Amino acid sequence: MKTRIAIAIIFAAMLATAAAFAYEEIYFSSAELLYEPSPNGYKVGKDNDAGRGLHHAGENCGRCHSPGGRAEHFLFTIAGTLYSDRSASSPLPGGEVILQDREGGVISMTSNRAGNFWTTAPVASDPYSVATTHGHEPFIPLYTEDQNGQLLEPAASDDPRTWKYKTWVRKGNYSRPMVSIAGIGGGSATTMRMGCSMHHGGVAHRAGGLWVGKGETLGAYPKAGLSYRKHIYPILRSNCSPCHIPGRTVSSKNTKSDISAASTAVDYSGGLDLMTYEGSAVEAPLYHPTIPMRVIGYETIAKAGVLSVVDTAAAAQSLLLRKTVSGGEPHGGGAFWTERSEDYRALLRWISEGAQQN
Ligand code: HEC
Ligand code: HEC
Repeated sequence: MKTRIAIAIIFAAMLATAAAFAYEEIYFSSAELLYEPSPNGYKVGKDNDAGRGLHHAGENCGRCHSPGGRAEHFLFTIAGTLYSDRSASSPLPGGEVILQDREGGVISMTSNRAGNFWTTAPVASDPYSVATTHGHEPFIPLYTEDQNGQLLEPAASDDPRTWKYKTWVRKGNYSRPMVSIAGIGGGSATTMRMGCSMHHGGVAHRAGGLWVGKGETLGAYPKAGLSYRKHIYPILRSNCSPCHIPGRTVSSKNTKSDISAASTAVDYSGGLDLMTYEGSAVEAPLYHPTIPMRVIGYETIAKAGVLSVVDTAAAAQSLLLRKTVSGGEPHGGGAFWTERSEDYRALLRWISEGAQQN
């Protein structure tokens, strides 16, 4: 009973601060945080929780580590498995999963020898959270506001559906942003939670594994005579295709405005399609702003290709390499290799040899 009263008092205090809360877009948008490098200045692995945790790698940890689940005594806020490759075939020990909540607080977990990571660190909740069905409409507000849009009561902070964060994965010089701010919980405070592996698992998952990379896509590259088809395309395909594809690359911004407007998509390609050599122009459907999946027309989405970001006269200065090498130019997609990585050296040689479409 005593704790009940304490909780009620804390909640009342939260309401009092919440009433003064004004909506600020930057806290809720994935776009504003997209180009930021991963945070620094904290102890790596500081939020690792106790335990061996070697079991069920790649599975949805939330299936058992949920209220009412088989492992409900170990209720994680975040858990999953980290891999070295996008198809999630080899686990990555000693990698880091970094989360930053909307207040700037950092959660850092390192993966064990099964690639697993988990934490019970609290994730800040988004006061303007909405409930959705698997990330789709209808959006049902979990908060209440007055006619002027001022927050009267924030979404409950113990409801996992309100937990919002930005994520990076890192291992040594390789780091990669996970480009969305997702609600972690999926279920409600009392139902099943999602683990990261549920959306970032093996080949069957469209998003691909939660992966960092190892700077080596193919087992070996020839010393000379590199081929676009045999060597370069596979590197670009496996590393860059989450973002640099023809047509739209979008992720919806999970914001308060999702309730009133559907047009909250973010483009993750920067107008660059690395799946084609010379670029692409794709007819893409335009959807009705409110009726889901209703096509109302088409638009042409033109993008530059590989050829536009290589410089055969000064190969190492090619934007393709400068943007993706550790210590190079800041890149929305993160750092994929060092100057010593096999993939980097293969790309460099192919560009020096004339960047042929061979
Ligand atoms: C099929 C059910 C199931 C799944 C899926 C599952 N676990 Fe568990 N886990 C358990 C059970 C059961 C326990 C023991 C709970 C107890 O003793 O009350 C446990 C305990 C743990 C513990 C503490 C004890 C130990 O062995 O160190 C950790 C850490 C852990 N699990 C991590 C994970 C991670 C990470 C994942 C996802 C990659 C995961 N589990 C997926 C069932 C599961
Ligand atoms: C997570 C998404 C993501 C991934 C994966 C990604 N990128 Fe990017 N890339 C971006 C975004 C966003 C931009 C635009 C902003 C910027 O320039 O950083 C961009 C811009 C670029 C540019 C500059 C384009 C220009 O004309 O200014 C190059 C070159 C580039 N990326 C190369 C790559 C290569 C090569 C890979 C794979 C090895 C890759 N990117 C993977 C998101 C990504």
